[in-house]
Amino acid sequence: MSKSAESALLQLFDAAKTAQANAHAPYSNYRVGAALRTPDGAIFAGGNVENASYPEGCCAETSAIAAMAASGARRIAEICVIGDGAALCTPCGGCRQRIREFANDDTLVHVAGPEGVRATFRLSALLPESFGPGHLPS
Ligand code: THU
Repeated sequence: MSKSAESALLQLFDAAKTAQANAHAPYSNYRVGAALRTPDGAIFAGGNVENASYPEGCCAETSAIAAMAASGARRIAEICVIGDGAALCTPCGGCRQRIREFANDDTLVHVAGPEGVRATFRLSALLPESFGPGHLPS
């Protein structure tokens, strides 16, 4: 990885980590942070926001995507998701589809732990043969 790509990824990781620290996860105690970069370089982040009515909680990726959409942006160039514990905090199925709405097969999904990025996937590996906006008749 080039030095500039490395520092760009570190910036994304830091934003995801800050969002993770601000996550509202009093029920699962599993804090997740997500940060995405748009093609023009803007970064949007969010954490999971749980609710006493459990099904009403939302994932970190959903929060980050909502922040992006609120700004008017509609493309994800890359995204980083961070969670604690030994297991990789890969995006849940629903969030893979939410990312898909604004990304393409080659979009990089970085999965991190507290110490840094642990793995990087192309979206096509996480959500093969996906259904997207292009499938709808115009
Ligand atoms: N969670 C996320 O924020 N993103 C994911 O992709 C997986 C799960 C959250 C939802 C819930 O608040 C907590 O992690 C435990 O499932």
